[in-house]
Amino acid sequence: MKRISTVPFTGTAEQEQALKNWLAEHKQQRGAAMPALQKAQEIYGYLPLEVQKMVAEALDKPLAEIYGITTFYSWFALSPKGQNDINVCLGTACYVKGSGAIFEKLEKKLGVKDGETTEDGKFSLNAVRCIGACGLAPVLKVNEDVYGRLTGDEKELDEILAKY
Ligand code: FES
Repeated sequence: MKRISTVPFTGTAEQEQALKNWLAEHKQQRGAAMPALQKAQEIYGYLPLEVQKMVAEALDKPLAEIYGITTFYSWFALSPKGQNDINVCLGTACYVKGSGAIFEKLEKKLGVKDGETTEDGKFSLNAVRCIGACGLAPVLKVNEDVYGRLTGDEKELDEILAKY
């Protein structure tokens, strides 16, 4: 289950105006919630509770309904992207070589779950499918850097994180 971000909301007046304009124009449409949330994510990059409230109020829907949509569909992000994006491959080749355990270690180390961003905004953690480097399994990527044949050793993971 995705969790709402703990990163403080820093939306601007321009972003709010852009969303309000869109909502004013489209709120009468049937099924406006999905496109409204897509638009909001396009404007803000993610969907913090403050933005979900704006959408709920404009569409005259309970916040719980909007929240239910954002947590159900994987393409809605509840946290802003961190400065560094960590993608751990949980594809079959990587998984059989222990990438699941590596992912769990990173969750603990960073104090976040899949799709979340650390409180300092430095790292986002994501579980992803095959990234096409199965020969190097188990693999993780930080931004565009690929790290393969990982042992999952604490020191190895610390050294990777320390580079960023
Ligand atoms: S399964 Fe991990 S790179 Fe292919």
